[in-house]
Amino acid sequence: MDNNRVYVFDTTLRDGEQVPGCQLTTVEKIIVAKELEALGVDVIEAGFPISSPGDFQSVVEISKAVSEPVICALTRANTADIDAAASALQYAKRKRIHTGIGSSDMHIKYKFNSTREAILERAKEAVKYARKFVDDVEFYAEDAGRADNEYLARMVEAVIAAGATVVNIPDTNGYCLPEQYGAKIKYLMDNVSNIDKAIISVHCHNDLGLATANTIAGVINGARQVECTINGIGERAGNTSLEEVAMILKTHHALGYTTGINSKKIYEISNLVSNMMRMPVQPNKAIVGRNAFAHSSGIHQDGVLKHRENYEILNPEDIGLQSNSIILTARSGRHALKHHLERLGYKIDKINLDEVYTRFLEMADSKKEITDHDLQTLMGDGNKDHYDDNKGIKVTLLQVVCGDPLRPMATVKLKVNGEEKEASSAGNGPVNATINAIHEIIKDKISIDEFSIQAMHGGSEDVSKVNMRVLHDGKSYYGFGYSTDIVNASVHAYVDALNKIY
Ligand code: KIV
Ligand code: ZN
Repeated sequence: MDNNRVYVFDTTLRDGEQVPGCQLTTVEKIIVAKELEALGVDVIEAGFPISSPGDFQSVVEISKAVSEPVICALTRANTADIDAAASALQYAKRKRIHTGIGSSDMHIKYKFNSTREAILERAKEAVKYARKFVDDVEFYAEDAGRADNEYLARMVEAVIAAGATVVNIPDTNGYCLPEQYGAKIKYLMDNVSNIDKAIISVHCHNDLGLATANTIAGVINGARQVECTINGIGERAGNTSLEEVAMILKTHHALGYTTGINSKKIYEISNLVSNMMRMPVQPNKAIVGRNAFAHSSGIHQDGVLKHRENYEILNPEDIGLQSNSIILTARSGRHALKHHLERLGYKIDKINLDEVYTRFLEMADSKKEITDHDLQTLMGDGNKDHYDDNKGIKVTLLQVVCGDPLRPMATVKLKVNGEEKEASSAGNGPVNATINAIHEIIKDKISIDEFSIQAMHGGSEDVSKVNMRVLHDGKSYYGFGYSTDIVNASVHAYVDALNKIY
């Protein structure tokens, strides 16, 4: 066994799914599980089978659908829970039962109204019982973060002797400091006589914003399994975020740890989980937040364009993003403007950059961010001939009639690879009428399966942001658009997705 290989245990579908409002259907869970498999996680915690028939069924179906990772089911330390888990896991090619009980005096007294010795017995019995069904049993010592280390070590030793293959040391309440949590893991590594017979796992919660730091401290001190969720979703302030741990271990490769994660899949699965669970990712979230690679100040933009690593310790391509996003705002300099114009196909040597920059600043003063569409509008003022108009799909006209009791109608003109096409259509609303008109033009089978409109700041004069996910030939494509007009923003999001398809 490679001693520096860190196993990634994903609990998005169990601890993550416990978040109110984040519940997924079995079909959605299978989609996420298959993406987790493609991401390269070692273990998928698929659910808590005794908790509900839906959870039970999800563990059954995920076990059938996924073959590479170990499928794990959670239980409490009792036979009914373990029976249910064993039955739900019957189709899994590689299976694990995750059983456990409280280990802190707080839990022993106030949750179980019991004693340390009695809890120790229950822990051993649960592991022995689970081993009757599977060879791979993980034991969790709940609230280990607040448990007495000496007692915890006795518990870990006892459950390993009873047959546990992995022992999870959860900081259930996100209480520990990284030094304390790291020292706890080290204490176990140094004081549990049979520690070499099991893998120590870290499972941290983020109540004080320390989940990732504690997880890394655990690894540095000997843990070789990390329990995390995509986007860090989970109970209360969440769990350790998978993408953070994976990218920390990759970035600090000098530490010598490896995982099986294909980091290029991170951005895609982050979007998938966020959309499915209706849990937006905060814009400044490390690794996957919309601003994680967005540089807006002129000095930073100039620095990144000169040499990316001036202001980026991570390569956006490593998480599956095409490139960093140099956001154009009133603080952007000429260098950033030129970069975007070139990206859009303008032959900037023909352009008087100073003159365009002056007009750009006027526009940027009245808008928070300048989009590609804004730049095209800007360049359209007498500079049309500099723009490569013959690539992709562009909206050249949008006209909508709607109201009450009018039947919504839309006319759309598109430039498809340079050729102008026009269509009109009705719909049950202005957006629907517009999308129908676009369908008349492109005549392809595309369905929208995710559509969200969000005001940026509030107020009826606000810019609205539209995120869309469309399906084409079984694959998902994302589109994004924004405008002060929601129909316009929707059309741009849709056309953005279309351009990704074609
Ligand atoms: O946070 C926790 O202690 C847990 C256990 C059930 C593993 O989620
Ligand atoms: Zn947890």
